[in-house]
Amino acid sequence: GLKKKEVHVLCLGLDNSGKTTIINKLKPSNAQSQNILPTIGFSIEKFKSSSLSFTVFDMSGQGRYRNLWEHYYKEGQAIIFVVDSSDRLRMVVAKEELDTLLNHPDIKHRRIPILFFANKMDLRDAVTSVKVSQLLCLENIKDKPWHICASDAIKGEGLQEGVDWLQEKII
Ligand code: GTP
Ligand code: MG
Repeated sequence: GLKKKEVHVLCLGLDNSGKTTIINKLKPSNAQSQNILPTIGFSIEKFKSSSLSFTVFDMSGQGRYRNLWEHYYKEGQAIIFVVDSSDRLRMVVAKEELDTLLNHPDIKHRRIPILFFANKMDLRDAVTSVKVSQLLCLENIKDKPWHICASDAIKGEGLQEGVDWLQEKII
């Protein structure tokens, strides 16, 4: 059959937000790992949607590794930014990292699509995706297409909606 178009995506967000769990869930079930550990540095992962073949740079969100993110901005054609919706305390840190990302010279002037996952929606302390978008001031992003999906990466809920949106914006 036809070869799918290849795209490079950066998966960013604080440690413990669920980035690796999300990417793992987007793979075919026979390729999924059963136990997910905190990412060290970064990991290159692949998954496919109906028309695209994604290569994902799944970055560690730990503070000591966040300075690695910017080295991959140039080659990223889209961004997946994951937020732990139940972590009210660190939402402000997530916003700081997002603002730093948006102001980076390799990102600032590009119309690169950003998909947000308001993850861990299953937890009792989780705030809604609308609230997450308010706390991150997403309305201020005027020069890039963006979209936020509520997700539960353990059950896999909300992930396909996000990938469908991303696929549509990348073509
Ligand atoms: P780093 O690699 O350290 O940056 O973290 P990460 O963002 O890749 O997080 P990871 O996928 O390793 O998940 C962290 C923890 O959150 C794991 O124990 C996951 O099982 C859990 N987790 C991920 N997504 C969800 C979710 O939607 N709901 C719940 N309840 N737990 C989740
Ligand atoms: Mg990880």
